[in-house]
Amino acid sequence: MSYYVTTPIYYVNAEPHLGHAYTTIAADVLARHMRERGEDVFFLTGTDEHGEPVAEAAEELGLDPRELADRNAPRFKELMPKINASNDFFIRTTDPEHEAKVQEVTQRVHDNGHVYEGTYEGWYCPRCADFKTESERGEGNTCLIHKIPLHREREENWFFRLSTFQEPLERLYAERPEFVRPEARYNEALSFIKGGLEDVSLSRPKLTWGVRLPWDTSQVMYVWFDALLNYVTALSYAREGEDLTERFWPAFHIIGKDILKFHAVYWPAFLMAAGYEVPERMFIHGYLLMEGHKMSKSLGNVLDPFEVIDRFGADALRYYCLREVSFGRDGSVSAAGFEARYETELANDYGNLVSRTLAMIDRYRDGVVPQAEVDPELTRGEDGLTSVEERVAELLDQTALTQALEEIWARVRRLNRYVEETRPWDLAKDEEGSARLDVVLYNLAEGIRVVTLLLYPYMPETADRLLGALGEEERRLAAFGSRGGGQRVEKLPPLFPKIEAAGA
Ligand code: MSP
Repeated sequence: MSYYVTTPIYYVNAEPHLGHAYTTIAADVLARHMRERGEDVFFLTGTDEHGEPVAEAAEELGLDPRELADRNAPRFKELMPKINASNDFFIRTTDPEHEAKVQEVTQRVHDNGHVYEGTYEGWYCPRCADFKTESERGEGNTCLIHKIPLHREREENWFFRLSTFQEPLERLYAERPEFVRPEARYNEALSFIKGGLEDVSLSRPKLTWGVRLPWDTSQVMYVWFDALLNYVTALSYAREGEDLTERFWPAFHIIGKDILKFHAVYWPAFLMAAGYEVPERMFIHGYLLMEGHKMSKSLGNVLDPFEVIDRFGADALRYYCLREVSFGRDGSVSAAGFEARYETELANDYGNLVSRTLAMIDRYRDGVVPQAEVDPELTRGEDGLTSVEERVAELLDQTALTQALEEIWARVRRLNRYVEETRPWDLAKDEEGSARLDVVLYNLAEGIRVVTLLLYPYMPETADRLLGALGEEERRLAAFGSRGGGQRVEKLPPLFPKIEAAGA
């Protein structure tokens, strides 16, 4: 089966921050997990380079918008391998292929009779590139997201007949209760639709930084339609000489809650207008908060993912973000919180379990995993190893990234308890304990192998190293069933060095 997962494309008005890394990491976990299940996966991310958000930032810096885009887009592109993201393509909305396809699709929307010329007046936030409805405005007509005064704008432009999609959208929501998750976001989007849809601008007359409307080249396209279309256009040129649309569309979108309206309301309507299938579904996550505020460049409270990665590695950051904040909700992150989980969970729970096990196999069995039977001790009970992969897959199908990680971690803890209960160092003292020691060491190696296969989507670099040391070449869940012993294992330096030593 094909599985197409996307992140929002990020504005190049500033450099990447942890919030951007967060969504990409989450989508990457899903992409890697689905590849492990043998699905045909396409994972897309990229940059949103047109419109006011970029044009205004460029002006402030005395740059041409293209210069700013060319300066910042590579930073986002470089972020991807740094956070161990396995995206299959990186789209830039300034790619000529994207621009051409945007024009083609928009022309179709025009030819299908969904646009008209008119005048618009309203309160506009240039950072959101959004006209704000009454409930979306703060005191004194300010933007609730950016805390800046809104501009009163009146303009002649082209409109998209969003209002005519009121009923089709209501039907879509009634037929597909899973279309938007979590449920609270589904309700929020549906009540926005039920509140009555007004037509929206399709173009901006004053701006020049954007894709020209093919039938009226005096206007550029409203950046949101240009941006949303990336999910479709990318498939037409990501692979030279191939069109992947049939194979992968419709997509599963992962986005933050700030851009719900565009994805859950405008986007399916625009796709219907263009004659495309609507998205498969979308999952809306919450904000990572620092000192109680949404992290953003404009608020100046940014935790630099590059610094964390340089000191602790990308996997520790990936683990921390998805473990600390229940995916879907808002939650605070901090350096202290990071260090605490790094020490107790990564270095102790997991890192020590691995080093101890590898060291014992080395010392007591010359580095070869003994041949032995599965120990029923480890398979049964709530945190037993039986069916853990099914449980994790089930949770990841619901985008419950944090709960799935909790399930895996319960097994890491279980394996630690197993070491304490079986005391292999005592078994090693005499010949009598030898058969039992074989069982214990075999089961520890097996337990670590299966837990690490499940952790691979979350911590791919670490899992690769460890699975390599365990002689496991597969990165498929089909490799889950128990392996016999007999393989040689290598000792490893600590997977997560203690904090004092890290960075030294
Ligand atoms: N360019 C638009 C999206 C177009 S998609 C067709 C945009 N860009 S953005 O650079 O502002 O990125 C917004 C997204 O970044 C959020 O939806 C979310 O995925 C991520 N985040 C930015 N800050 C974040 C947090 N503080 N916490 C969690 N996610 C954050 O909007």
